[in-house]
Amino acid sequence: MPKLTLRDLDVRGKRVLVRVDFNVPTEERDGATIITDDTRIRETLPTINYLRAQGAKTVLMSHLGRPKGKPVEKYSLRPVGLVLHDLIAHPVAFSHDCIGADAEKIVSEMCDGDVTLLENVRFYAGEEANDPQFAESLAKLSDGLFVNDAFGAAHRAHASTVGVTKFVRQAAMGFLMEKELKYLKEELANPARPFLVILGGAKVSDKIGVIKALLDKADTILICGAMANTFLEAQGMYMAESRVERDKLDLARELMQLAKEKNVRLILPIDLLGAEEIQPGAVTRQSGRLGPDYDVPGGWQAVDIGPETITLFRDEIAHAKTILWNGPPGIFEIREFSAGTEAIAEALAESNATTIIGGGDSVTAVKQAGLADNMTFISTGGGASLKLIEGKELPGVAALTEKN
Ligand code: 3PG
Repeated sequence: MPKLTLRDLDVRGKRVLVRVDFNVPTEERDGATIITDDTRIRETLPTINYLRAQGAKTVLMSHLGRPKGKPVEKYSLRPVGLVLHDLIAHPVAFSHDCIGADAEKIVSEMCDGDVTLLENVRFYAGEEANDPQFAESLAKLSDGLFVNDAFGAAHRAHASTVGVTKFVRQAAMGFLMEKELKYLKEELANPARPFLVILGGAKVSDKIGVIKALLDKADTILICGAMANTFLEAQGMYMAESRVERDKLDLARELMQLAKEKNVRLILPIDLLGAEEIQPGAVTRQSGRLGPDYDVPGGWQAVDIGPETITLFRDEIAHAKTILWNGPPGIFEIREFSAGTEAIAEALAESNATTIIGGGDSVTAVKQAGLADNMTFISTGGGASLKLIEGKELPGVAALTEKN
């Protein structure tokens, strides 16, 4: 059953409580907290600007970090409020408490078009416990209208994402939530073919559900990153000091067998870049073509894909009509190990396919390469995008009001 969206609500003159995901990366510089990537804030602007244009009073709430149920200064949302103020060119009132008398007073004094940002909801244990009393206190700050635009937190059944919906009249999704579902759910349910998936990252165990779900949809899956080491070792390759999940070798074999049965091409790296240590300036060495005569030399570990794999992956990318990328092929944070990640980002940017970047480190990689604008869609979610790709229901979406 479809859910209400922001356009379905009559928000004029009303206080609308909006859950956003302002869990942004920060850095301490000279005693001040600097936001190092404001994408998640910018991505909520369509929702915030629409509410302002409609004459609503927008009350924003979010989490930041994992303060574990008590106030922790470095997780305060105050610096986010300042950034938002600049982005919307309108004052953003800040409430140092997300519930209670002070928050209620600030909200009661708002005029149409005003915006208030509440302090971190995770400063209360009731948030993650999905405590009904805490959820009701949050809902009190609205006129019975709730909008969830926090796609990145939609896989969490917390008070501000799920509990609050029980205490409002209407709970709708915001424009960012709508966009994320359009690409990660609808587009991937019926992809233009060939549908290529590039899966990297550290652990097979993190991606089992995703791989299994994608074996029912994809034509080809390129496995890379440290995760590929486990598959390569499962095929009998000696991976030396490379990161391998030895307790997942059987699982890797099972997934390769499953791919065969489902007629999905599961492609592993054919050569690798090795290093003796993981640090900038490390000595690196290209492997030859992996196989019975060549594996990773003793004392070395795989840190990126090699040039032959890059050529192979580029070719797959050039022939695909839909591409989903989740997880880098190498430790791209270290320049010497970043060639594979950059090559994939470039190949995606050049491709005419629908390119979907499914959250996490691959998003950072695409941005670092300055190629974000060349992608069809970049998700703001990490865990939430993986859950959705896996075909799981997101509690934050399930809790919204159904359309009549
Ligand atoms: C994220 O960054 O993935 C979301 O904001 C969720 O954060 P969490 O993993 O701390 O719940």
